[in-house]
Amino acid sequence: MKIYYGGHSSFLLESNNNRILVDPMMISPKMAEKKPTLIAVSHGHGDHIGDSEKIAKKNDIPIMAVFELANYFAKKGCKTIDGHIGGKIKFDFGFIKYVTAFHGNSTPDGTATGNPCGFIFNIDGITVYHTGDTGLFGDMELIAKQTPVDVLLCPIGDKYTMGPEDAIVATKLVNPKIVIPMHYNTFPLIAQDPEDFKQKVEKDSNTKVVIMKANDVFEYNK
Ligand code: NI
Ligand code: MN
Repeated sequence: MKIYYGGHSSFLLESNNNRILVDPMMISPKMAEKKPTLIAVSHGHGDHIGDSEKIAKKNDIPIMAVFELANYFAKKGCKTIDGHIGGKIKFDFGFIKYVTAFHGNSTPDGTATGNPCGFIFNIDGITVYHTGDTGLFGDMELIAKQTPVDVLLCPIGDKYTMGPEDAIVATKLVNPKIVIPMHYNTFPLIAQDPEDFKQKVEKDSNTKVVIMKANDVFEYNK
């Protein structure tokens, strides 16, 4: 699997012919070259939905989101896939499961769009857990027990999501092979030092921290 990073919480997961764009607020030049096959949006905040509507229409692909947010996009004429927390959508490549995230969910125009979510992506046998925007919660361990996680995408920015101290605990609970920090340094209010996070996580766990810069591509193989 190739994991493209656009910055903030924006990733493109590529495996065989599937290219899943997640929270595409920022699209790096390398991501822009890839035609996505699906967009997954964790919640409606502007720093996550970005140009989802435009990208979905241009590529004639669906947006996957919780029921209320999917309806919001459907009203705008987008193809959608809906579901809700705990639910799994099956695909040829595996499945995508909606999981809990503790945060808010509304769109930039003020529409309330239900609960936010995180996603467990199970793609060709590799599991990526994108937590969405969330605070720390103990059931992250239970979520990872149900589907052991290879790569965790975890916020460290603090203020609007968990900060580095809680992200270290989240990483321990999930116990992934790799953790990639996200949702930091996009603007001054969420400035963090990812190297410090890396040192602390790697000091007392077997998880490796991969720090990505916008436009980086990380390849993960089992
Ligand atoms: Ni948010
Ligand atoms: Mn956010």
